[in-house]
Parts: sequence; structure tokens; C-alpha cells
Amino acid sequence: MAKKAEVDTRFAVPKKLASHGPARIIAMCNQKGGVGKTTTAVNLAAALAEYGRKVLVVDFDPQGALSTHLGVIAVPGEIATIYELMKGTIKDPHEVIRKSPVKNLDLIPANIDLSVAEIELVNEVARESILANILRKVSDEYDVIIIDCQPSLGLLNVNALTAAHGVLIPMATDFFALRGVALLKDQINKVQERLNPALKLDGILVTLHERTLHSKEVLDRLQEAFESFVFKTQIARTVKFKDATVAQLPITAYAPTSEAAESYRAVARELVSRGCAP
Ligand SMILES: Nc1ncnc2c1ncn2[C@@H]1O[C@H](COP(=O)(O)OP(=O)(O)O)[C@@H](O)[C@H]1O
Ligand SMILES: [Mg+2]
Repeated sequence: MAKKAEVDTRFAVPKKLASHGPARIIAMCNQKGGVGKTTTAVNLAAALAEYGRKVLVVDFDPQGALSTHLGVIAVPGEIATIYELMKGTIKDPHEVIRKSPVKNLDLIPANIDLSVAEIELVNEVARESILANILRKVSDEYDVIIIDCQPSLGLLNVNALTAAHGVLIPMATDFFALRGVALLKDQINKVQERLNPALKLDGILVTLHERTLHSKEVLDRLQEAFESFVFKTQIARTVKFKDATVAQLPITAYAPTSEAAESYRAVARELVSRGCAP
């Protein structure tokens, strides 16, 4: 029988909220693929929802992995997505928002249609603020909105950074982890200067962490370079996350007592204790 995970007690359990909204908006960004953006978006959102937060996740990647993970296969032409909102063919986000299998957790899905938005929106007025304007319409109904970005630094990513209050960067502890962070920080700085002066770096979350000397060295270097920005909680590499994806459930619902579930609950508590979520 699996042993029950030890509960991380470094960060206090968030207090119950008396009322909901306006949402703090967090963009999950890293232009590298396969670093745990989607896994973190789903599971952090689910952990915050367990703590009574009303959470909306926005799938902002044409791959639609976040939607699938929450059981929504957004077949083009059948299910309305973020693309229709970005294009303005649907004006009210409520027509697109769907319930997830988890209480307090809603989803705006995406599918491959979104891949053309980058080109189609280039000539729009205020093209960088389209997502911000969409989310403003529902911000009062949620405590946290998490945007799952695609691995790129294009216009969609700029939209996410313009809509967000904070950026969370998931990062795998492999040798190349630090590569590309400079580029990403550059883009964050530009968005801060030109579009969204209040944007903050909420932190860097180490994912896919292994108990190897190599992983530890990368973690040490990250902590040297980014100090307190690195979350104290790390997410270990475990096949449980893939199993949860196949089951189309967050890890907190699929394996509630697992260490993997506990680790995302710890990230949620750390996020709240850092003041990055209500
Ligand atoms: N901590 C982890 N342990 C094991 N596998 C993981 C972990 N986090 C993510 N994965 C798996 O790695 C792959 C990439 O993760 P994903 O969250 O989709 O990354 P991204 O959104 O950055 O491309 C997925 O198959 C996911 O199930
Ligand atoms: Mg992803």
C-alpha cells in the first residue's frame, strides 16, 4: 500500500475568504516546452480551489493540453474557445467558460484554432490588450485566474503578460534550465515598460525535480541567480502526473493523498503566503 504523503507545514493553510474577487491573474510562462507549465496550471489551480478559492484557468496554448487535462476536448466548430473571444466573434466570456470536474474550478478551453490568432490579430487596435479586456469582464467572479501560455514569446504571450498581475515560471532542473530565462526576463521587462507597469515576477517553480546531484546543482544555481524568487517547494518527477493526465483529473483529485498532490498544495500555500494569491 502507498504510504501517505508527509504534509509540508512550512506555509500556513490559507484563511477562508469571506467574499470572492477581484481575481489576481497569473501567467504560467516559459518559452521552453515540456517544463511543467500545463501541469502546474492544472494542479496549482486545483489546489487553490480546494482551499476555497474560486479559480479560472485559461488555456492559451493551441495544443489544448490544459483543456484535455480537465476533460474538455475542444473539437473545432463544436465547442467555443478562447479563440472566438480573441477574435471578438463571441463577446461574453460566460458563453465560453466551462465547469471542470473540480469544485470552484472553471476553464476557458483552447484548440488548434488559436494557432492562427497570432497572425490574424497583428493588425488589430490594441492587439496586446485583447486578453486583458476579456478577463476584465469576469475578474470579479474569481479569486485567481491562471493563464497557461504556449511555449513561445509571440503576441499571445505578450497578451498573457499584459493581462497578468504576476508571472510564474515553471522550470525543469536540467542542464539547460537557465538558458532562455534571460530572454523571458527581457520580454517581461519590455511588457512592464510599455504595457503593464504593475507586472511582477511571482516566482520560479522547480518542476520535474530528481534526487540527483545534477538536479541539485541546477537548483543551487537557480537559487544563486534568483534568490527568493525560487519557490521553496519543488515538484518531484513522478509518473503520477502522467497518470492523472490520462485520467483527465488534477493530481489532487486523482491521487489526493500522494506526495505529488501534497507538493502542489504546498505551492498553493506558498503562493498565498507570498501575497501572490488571495
Ligand atoms: N513533476 C512531474 N513529474 C513527471 N512528469 C511530469 C511532471 N510535470 C510534468 N510532467 C509531464 O511532462 C510532460 C510535460 O509537462 P507539461 O506540463 O505539459 O509541460 P509544458 O506545459 O511546459 O509543455 C507532460 O507529459 C507531463 O505529464
Ligand atoms: Mg503546456
